[in-house]
Amino acid sequence: MTERLSVMARIADVMRAPVSELRKAETCSLVIFGAGGDLTRRKLMPALFHLRTHGLLPDDFTIVGVAREPYDDDSYRELIGKSLKEFAADVFDQKVWDAFSRRIFYLSGDFNDQAMYSALQQKLDSAGQSMVPGCGRLFYLAVPPQVYPSLIDQLSATGIAPRVVDTKLRPWTRVIIEKPFGRGLDSARTLNKVVRRAFAEHQVYRIDHYLGKETVQNLLVFRFANSIFEPVWNRHHVHHVQITAAESFGVERRAGYYEQAGVIRDMFQNHLLQLLTLTAMEPPVAFTADAVRNEKLKVLEAIRPVTPAEMHEYAVRGQYGPGTINGKPVPGYREEPGVAAESITPTYAAVRFMVDNWRWHDVPFYLRSAKRMPHRATEIAIQFKLPPQVFFRKDKLQPNTLAIRVQPDEGIALRFEVKVPGIELHTVSVDMDFTYKEAFGEASHEAYETLLLDAMVGEATLFTRADEVEAAWAVVDPIIEFWELKKPSHFPNYAAGTWGPEIGDEFIEKMGCVWRKP
Ligand code: BG6
Repeated sequence: MTERLSVMARIADVMRAPVSELRKAETCSLVIFGAGGDLTRRKLMPALFHLRTHGLLPDDFTIVGVAREPYDDDSYRELIGKSLKEFAADVFDQKVWDAFSRRIFYLSGDFNDQAMYSALQQKLDSAGQSMVPGCGRLFYLAVPPQVYPSLIDQLSATGIAPRVVDTKLRPWTRVIIEKPFGRGLDSARTLNKVVRRAFAEHQVYRIDHYLGKETVQNLLVFRFANSIFEPVWNRHHVHHVQITAAESFGVERRAGYYEQAGVIRDMFQNHLLQLLTLTAMEPPVAFTADAVRNEKLKVLEAIRPVTPAEMHEYAVRGQYGPGTINGKPVPGYREEPGVAAESITPTYAAVRFMVDNWRWHDVPFYLRSAKRMPHRATEIAIQFKLPPQVFFRKDKLQPNTLAIRVQPDEGIALRFEVKVPGIELHTVSVDMDFTYKEAFGEASHEAYETLLLDAMVGEATLFTRADEVEAAWAVVDPIIEFWELKKPSHFPNYAAGTWGPEIGDEFIEKMGCVWRKP
C-alpha cells in the first residue's frame, strides 16, 4: 500500500511539473484553410483553446481562418465561440475566450484567386505578426484533398509560404496536410511531387491523428522504456498479433467522401498501418523524427506483397446492413443518406499482413476495422505461443496475451494462467490490468493538441514522411485494386451491431486463430 501511495505521489508530481519551455510554442501564426469546416470547429479550435488554457500558447498567438463563407472577424469569432462551448465545454472560460478570440481573424476568399494571398498577407500584417521578429507561420490544409495541389502551388507562387531549406532559419514556415494524402500510390507520388516543388520535407507535417493519441505514443515508451518485453517481442514467442479498430458509428454525414474511400483507404492505409509499424519496428538509434520514421518505413517495406491469386487468403471485406446498436435500430450502409442503393463500398475489412524480416518471419499480423460494430474499441493484442509442454488440461489453457487498449478505456492488460484455489488442480486466465484513468485520472488532452503543438515547435516524429506515406499506399493498393476489379456480390454481409461478416471469422479461424472481442 505504501509503495502504491508513493507511486501515486510520483505521478502527481510529474503531472504537476511545469511544461518545459521547449514544449511551449513561440509567438507564431496559424492560417487555417477550410476554417468553416467540421474539422476546424470540432477538433482544431477546441485543441487550440485547450493549449491556450494550459498556458502552452503565447498571448499573441494569432489565428487567421480562410474559407469561402462570407464571415467577417466578428461573425467568425461568434461561430467559433459557439463551437467551443459545445466541443471544449470542459475548459470553456469566458475570460480566456475573450482574450483568445481577439487574436482570431477571418478572411473570406477563393483559394485559386491570387488576390486572396495578398489579402492574407495584409491580414497577417494588420494582426501585427509581421512586426514580431522570427514569428513563424503554420499553414493548415483542412480542405478537401482535391484542393491540395492548387493551394500548395499558390502558397509557393505567391511567396506567402516560402521554401526554406535551412532547418535553423527563422522565421520558419510549415504546412500541415490532412489525410487522405492521395487515393493510391500514384496520386500520393504526384502529390508528394507538388509538395516537394513548394517545400523542403522538414517543412511538411502530414497528419495522422492516431499518432497524437496518448496510448499510441505510449507504445513507443512501453516498448523502448522497459526491458522485459523486448526479449519476447519476436517470432520465437509471438504467435500472432491482432489490431482492431472497431467503430459503432456509421458513415454519419460523410457518405460523399466515404463512398469514394471505403475502409482500406479510410482506416488501413493510415491509422492501422501506423499501429502495425509502431508494434513491429526495431528500436530506433535515437528518439528523433528521422530515426523513428526510418524504422517504421523498414516495416512497411518488409510487408509481403500479395498477388491477386492469393488475395482471398490475405483479405476479406464486408458491408453493414440494417441492425441494432445499443438497443436502437440503425439503417444499413446502403440506406444511409448519400450512399448509392447498390453501393459496393466496403465498411469492414480484415487483412493478414506478413512482415518478412528476421524478427517477424511467419508471424501473422491480423488487422481489422469496421463501422457499425457493437461498440467503439481500438486495440493491439499480442498473442504469445502456448508453452511447448503442457502438464495441465491443454483444452483449458489460454495463451498469454498482452492487450494494449488504444481507446476507449485506455490501458494495458496482460493475461496469464493461474491455479484456481482448491484441492484440485484447475487453471484459469486472469488479467493484470493497468488503466490510464485509474493511474492518471481523466484524459487531459486530445490528439490534435499534441500534434498542433508539435508542428509549432518543429517536432515531426508523430507525422508521416513522404516515403512512409508512399510505402503504406504500396501495401494497400493491391487490395484496393483487386476489390475494385472483383465486385462483391454478397453485400451487405453483416448486420450493424455485430462483429462483422462470417467470412471474417472463417478467414482467421482457417489460420488457427480467433478474433478477440475487445
Ligand atoms: C478518421 C476516419 O480518419 O478516423 C473516420 O476518416 C474514422 O472514418 C476516424 O471514424 C476514427 O478516429 P477515432 O479517433 O475516432 O478513432
